[in-house]
Amino acid sequence: MSSGTDLTHLEHDVLEEIAAATDLAALDVVRVAALGKKGRVSELMAQLGKLPPDERKAFGASVNAVKAKVSDALDERRSMLEAAALTTRLTHEREDITLPVRAGVALQGRIHPVSQVLDECIEIFADLGFEVAEGPDIETDDLNFTKLNMPAEHPARQEHDTFYFNPKPDGSRLLLRTHTSPVQIRTMQTKTPPIRIIAPGRVYRCDSDQTHTPMFHQIEGLVIDETTHMGHLKWVLEEFAKAFFEVDNVTMRFRASHFPFTEPSMEVDIDASAIGKPGQWLEILGCGMVHPNVIANCGLDPEKYQGFAFGMGLDRIAMLKYGLPDLRAFFSADLRWLRHYGFSLLDQPTLGGGLSS
Ligand code: DAH
Repeated sequence: MSSGTDLTHLEHDVLEEIAAATDLAALDVVRVAALGKKGRVSELMAQLGKLPPDERKAFGASVNAVKAKVSDALDERRSMLEAAALTTRLTHEREDITLPVRAGVALQGRIHPVSQVLDECIEIFADLGFEVAEGPDIETDDLNFTKLNMPAEHPARQEHDTFYFNPKPDGSRLLLRTHTSPVQIRTMQTKTPPIRIIAPGRVYRCDSDQTHTPMFHQIEGLVIDETTHMGHLKWVLEEFAKAFFEVDNVTMRFRASHFPFTEPSMEVDIDASAIGKPGQWLEILGCGMVHPNVIANCGLDPEKYQGFAFGMGLDRIAMLKYGLPDLRAFFSADLRWLRHYGFSLLDQPTLGGGLSS
């Protein structure tokens, strides 16, 4: 039967083994040999029943004291070894992030001009205080047309060459959105003014030639509050055009036009000297003051709220800025084209660092 001296020896031995363990695996072997089911300390407890009743209490207490000391020593050693293991990893797993990217596949990737131009636009409008909003490509007839002040049979619907899905039993039809303008409706239905968003995305029309593809990209803008007027619209578009074409001045022309969802409506041309072709006007977008009917259709009070909207073809401004002649090539997945016209992965467009440098 174990005596008090045996216990002291045992404690001494185990504590020495703990101190000698140089890694977590070795420490665990020591733990199992001492405190595991068949460990030396645990087995002492099993002897308890064989002792005369008057000795049990004192012996039990001593064994428990040894157990507690061993446990504490194990915990302490474990924390120390874990900290040491972490320090070793941190010193060995060092990466020099200042090294240049290795030539190889990663450097061959290219950013598509549409993605580049989208990033440029987001950078410019975010700087002007606009948030990015999104809506689905598959849209309802109601949001794509009706709420935008184009009721059924409205002639403007015909201009859109819409891809429709089969009608549902109730007669309603889903469609591929023909413009990003439905995101205006989604935003006004869910947010309380002041609203300041841009909504970039894919749009679809049944049309194809050198400057039209059945899928293309637009970026929509919407500002709604209680005081925004046309002067603000002109200023925002001018700031955008200067930043986008990376020039100090642009001359813009606002031509009266018609869109059902704006009143008044305008189309905007820029003097092409901004892209090195003086003497030509280039149309870049449509815009106007949001029609009171549209504001009311979204559940807002048109007597209280007003603002402007604009819609721009992303692919079109990409073609203008980067001199890309054929829109169809954008979506032909031709690697030679992408290697030639694509942008480096490492050049994020920033206003501070330059949009396209
Ligand atoms: N949605 C129009 C289109 O695709 C473009 C447009 C014009 C959007 C005027 C607007 C706007 O927000 O105010 O042809």
